Amino acid sequence: MQVDILTLFPQMFQSPFSVGIFQRAIDQKLVSINFHDIRHYTYDKHHTVDDYVYGGGAGMVLKPEPVFEAVESIKSDIKSGDSVLPIILLTPQGRLFCQEIAQELSTYRNLILICGHYEGVDERVREHLVTDEISIGDYVLSGGELAAMVVIDAVVRLMPGVLGSEASLLDDSHVSGLLEYPQYTGPPLYRGWSVPQVLLSGNHAQIAKWRREQAILRTLERRPELLDKANLCSDEKRLVDHLLTTGSL
Ligand code: ADE
Repeated sequence: MQVDILTLFPQMFQSPFSVGIFQRAIDQKLVSINFHDIRHYTYDKHHTVDDYVYGGGAGMVLKPEPVFEAVESIKSDIKSGDSVLPIILLTPQGRLFCQEIAQELSTYRNLILICGHYEGVDERVREHLVTDEISIGDYVLSGGELAAMVVIDAVVRLMPGVLGSEASLLDDSHVSGLLEYPQYTGPPLYRGWSVPQVLLSGNHAQIAKWRREQAILRTLERRPELLDKANLCSDEKRLVDHLLTTGSL
């Protein structure tokens, strides 16, 4: 996958992408990430990227010309053939990012991400350039950079070969629609707190059953609204009803 990021602050991306799974994925050429400074696509002496809002109002808005030119220049270097090339604006007005969207994005060969800044982006960028808008949550960041990092992190770790064990992805919180079950490692007894006996039993069927129940319980306790969309069998639904009616959470 190749990710092209348009930003006013390319330096913000340096450290997150130079450690851990990113560095490995980049070294192994599973992903390449290119940064494009929007300011490089300006032609005036002051490299103006923003301007006052027509009609009046507080703050500055990102101008359309450098954004269009940057995207068009990147597109002309990408041999995408007939494949779809998502051009994503990070904005609090976008669709709310979630695991399902991360999975969807991980299937593309190329992604272009545009980090908005200042008070917003000229509406013509939305109307005539971007194909998608993503928000990482109902709060306002000072720019799209941190949001872009969140999106790329969630997407890149899903790509084949990036994590050591692909199997572990299946148990991740949100993948099955449930939060992940509790995990333990050694020592088996720490400060008097012991690891649940079933996990030390070696009985894989019992362990799988315990984990599934714990994932349901945890989801019910912390994010009950997720259970509406989770794929529960009839026994599991009965368990949830029982826990809810007896109040034994
Ligand atoms: N830019 C500013 N706030 C944002 C948010 N919540 N998500 C994505 N991009 C943003």
